[in-house]
Amino acid sequence: MMGQQLLLALLALRAVSASARGDAYLVGTGKADITGPAADVNLMGYASPSQLAAGIHTRLYARAFLVADTADSSNRLVFVNMDACMASQAVTIAVHKRLEALYGGLYTRRNVALSGIHTHSGPGGYLQYVLYTITSLGFVRESFDTLVDGVVEAIEQAHASLAPGLLQTNEGELLDANANRSPTAYLANPAAERARYAHDTDKAMTLLKVLGADGRGRGAVAWFPVHCTSINNTNSLISGDNKGAASQLLEAWASDGANVGDTSPNVLGAFCADTGEPCEAQHSTCGGRTELCIGRGPAWEADDWGFRSNEIIARRQAEAAARLWIGSDAQPANISGPVDARHAYVDMSAVQVAASNWTRVGRTCSPAMGFSFAAGTTDGPGAFDFRQSDTDGTAFWRLVRHFIHEPSAQQAACHAPKPILLDTGSLAIPYAWQPSIVDVQILRAGQLVVLCVPAELTTMAGRRLREAVHARVSGAWGRDVQVVIAGLANTYSSYVTTFEEYGVQRYEGASTIFGPHTLDAYIQEFLKLADDMVAGRETPPGPPPPDLLPRQWSFLGPVVLDTVPHGAEFGGIVSDAAAAYAANQTARAVFHSACPRNNVRRGGSFLAVEHQDQASGAWRTVLTDDHLSTRYAWARPHTLSSESTATITWDIPPSVQPGMYRLRHFGDYKHILGGTQAFEGASRSFCVALGTRACLLRRAWLALVTALLSGRHWL
Ligand SMILES: *[C@@H]1O[C@H](CO)[C@@H](O)[C@H](O)[C@H]1NC(C)=O
Ligand SMILES: *[C@@H]1O[C@H](CO)[C@@H](O)[C@H](O)[C@H]1NC(C)=O
Ligand SMILES: *[C@@H]1O[C@H](CO)[C@@H](O)[C@H](O)[C@H]1NC(C)=O
Ligand SMILES: *[C@@H]1O[C@H](CO)[C@@H](O)[C@H](O)[C@H]1NC(C)=O
Repeated sequence: MMGQQLLLALLALRAVSASARGDAYLVGTGKADITGPAADVNLMGYASPSQLAAGIHTRLYARAFLVADTADSSNRLVFVNMDACMASQAVTIAVHKRLEALYGGLYTRRNVALSGIHTHSGPGGYLQYVLYTITSLGFVRESFDTLVDGVVEAIEQAHASLAPGLLQTNEGELLDANANRSPTAYLANPAAERARYAHDTDKAMTLLKVLGADGRGRGAVAWFPVHCTSINNTNSLISGDNKGAASQLLEAWASDGANVGDTSPNVLGAFCADTGEPCEAQHSTCGGRTELCIGRGPAWEADDWGFRSNEIIARRQAEAAARLWIGSDAQPANISGPVDARHAYVDMSAVQVAASNWTRVGRTCSPAMGFSFAAGTTDGPGAFDFRQSDTDGTAFWRLVRHFIHEPSAQQAACHAPKPILLDTGSLAIPYAWQPSIVDVQILRAGQLVVLCVPAELTTMAGRRLREAVHARVSGAWGRDVQVVIAGLANTYSSYVTTFEEYGVQRYEGASTIFGPHTLDAYIQEFLKLADDMVAGRETPPGPPPPDLLPRQWSFLGPVVLDTVPHGAEFGGIVSDAAAAYAANQTARAVFHSACPRNNVRRGGSFLAVEHQDQASGAWRTVLTDDHLSTRYAWARPHTLSSESTATITWDIPPSVQPGMYRLRHFGDYKHILGGTQAFEGASRSFCVALGTRACLLRRAWLALVTALLSGRHWL
C-alpha cells in the first residue's frame, strides 16, 4: 500500500515535468507474483541446508519491461527482473517454450533476458544443475512452476500493455549502500588500474525511466551493485531482501543487481562475533575460524535477522532512484536510437582467448570449485564448512563427499592456482553438476546497452567488461553510450573475478568456475556480439544447452496431512490480538494453520490487515502479506507434526489512521483423503492509536451499528 502511494506521488511529479521528449518507442510493463512455496523449501543463496522457508516477509515478483521499435513493432526486447536469487537455465528454457506457444517467433532467446536480483531469502530448487540444488534436497517443482508461471504472466502483461512511450536514463552516486567484502582480492588488481577509481565498489546507480506518451511514469529499472544479503542466513521468511524492499518502497521500480560479485550490503565491514574486533583481513577469520567473522549492516547493534539493516539499505537505494527519476541533481537524458539484441550460447569450458587490448591469451577450463568456496563469505560464513558437515552430515553432504576425487593433472593445471575441491565438470551423476554452455546476450535501446551476464562479476571484472564494450561501440553509437551489466541472467554459473583477483583465491575466485581466463573469455565473447550489432550482422547461435528438466531428482517429501488439536479448527485462534495498540507497536495474533505448500496462493495472500469502516461497520483490506510491515510466520512443533500455527504480525506505522482493525489469516489444509480445503480466520477487532475513552466509545458505536445492521432492534 505504501509503495502504491509513493508511486502515485511519483507519477504526479512526472506528469508536471514531462517536457523533454526523445524518440518515441512502444513500451509495455508487467508485474506478477513468483513467491513460491513458503514452507520446508531451502532458501537459495547461503547454501545452508537448515535454512528452510517458514512464512513470508515480502512477496517476490517478476517485473517485465518491453521496448519495441515504433516503425517495426516486431523488433522488440524484453527485460525481466526477477526477485529471485538468480536466473535458472531450466526456467529460461521452460519460459521460452511457453512464449513460443503463445506468440510464435516474436519473443526469442535473442530478445528476452531474465535476470535475478540475488535475494538470499527466496525458495530454491529451481535450477537444473546438481551443485545448485544440493541444499534444497534436489529439484523443487513448486518453486520452478511458480517462477515459470510468474515470468510468463509478467511478459503477457507487458505484451498486452504495449503503447507509445519514451525512455530516459539518469545516473548518480550512492555512497553508503555497498561495501567490498573481499577488499584484499581487489587490491591484487594493478595499482594503475585501481588509481582510476575512487572506490573499491561501484557507487553509480543507473536508472532507466519508462514513460507513457503523455510523460507519465510506467516503470523503472535501477542498476546498482549490491549483494542481496542484508537478511541473514538463519532467517526463514521469504523476502526480496534490500532490492525487493527498494522496489516495494517505490512500486514502479525494479532494481537490479549488476556487478554484485564482491559487494556486500554489510557496509560497516566484518567483525568477530566473540571479540568485536575486525576480522583478520586476508582470510576473513577470527582466531583461524570463519564462522565467527560476520559482516555488519547499518543497524547491526539491534537487528533482527538483518531486517532493520535491510530496510535502511533498501531506503537508500529507493531514495537514490527517486532523486534520479525526478532529476534533482542532473536532468534525465532522452534515449533515442535503434532497438536491437544479440544472443549466443557459449561453451565456456573450452574458449580459446586471443590476446587483445582487453584480453590476455589463455584458455578456459571445464568447471571446478576451489577450496575457499567451502568457507562462504562474511555475509554467510561457513555455509559450506566441510569439516563441520562431516560430523553432522546430511544425506546430501555425504553424497557430495562421495564425489570428491582427484582432478586430472590437466584440469588442475588449467585451474591453477585454484586448489580444486569439487571437480564439477567431470561429475555427471545423476546429471551435470554445473553448466558448461551458458548464455551471453546484449540488449540495446538507443544509448542504453545492457550486458546480460550469466554469473556474478566482481567490481573490477564488471568495470573491465563494461569498458571494453563501451570502447568497441562508442565509435559507432556515440560517446554517451551507457553500458550496464545485468548479472545472474538467463543461466547461473557462479562468479567471475579478474585474473589478478583469481590468484588470491578468496570465495569469489574459488567460485570462478571456468578458471583464471573466465573474465577474458566473457570479454571476448561480448565483444563479438557487440561487433555483430555494430555491423548489423546476425550472430551464430552457438551450441544449445541441455534441457535437464526431465532428469531432475527430488528428495523433498510432499505434504501428507494437516490436522488441528482436538476441539480446534483451521483458522481458529491460538493466541489473540490485544484489545488496543498504539502507533509503533506490533499487533500480533496466532492461528491454527496448515502447510502453505498446499497452495502457494500465487497472486494472493496468507494474511490481511483489515480496517473497519466507521459508518457501515464493513471491513476493508488495507495490507496483505506483500507489505514490509506485515509478517506471516509459519511453524510446527516438530518436523513430523501435522499440526502447525501461523503467527501474523503487523508493525503499526507512526502515521497509521486511528480506528478499529483486525488481522486475518488464509490458508489451505490437506485432509485425510488427500485433497485440500481452503480456510480462513480472524483475530478479535482491536483499537489502533485511539485513547482509552475513544476506544470504548468506538467499540460501543460499532456494536450498535452491527446490531442494527443485523436486524436485532433491541434498543
Ligand atoms: C529531450 O529531447 C527533446 C527533443 O525531443 C529536447 O527538447 C529536450 O531538451 C531533451 N531533453 C534532454 C534532457 O536532453
Ligand atoms: C542472524 O540473526 C539472528 C537474529 O537476529 C542472530 O541471532 C544470528 O546470530 C544472526 N546470524 C548471523 C550469522 O549474523
Ligand atoms: C589498442 O590500443 C592501442 C593503444 O591505445 C590503440 O592504438 C589500438 O587502436 C587499439 N586496438 C584496438 C583493436 O582497439
Ligand atoms: C512513533 O515513532 C516515531 C519515530 O519513529 C515518533 O516520532 C512517534 O512519536 C512515535 N509515536 C508513538 C505514538 O509512540
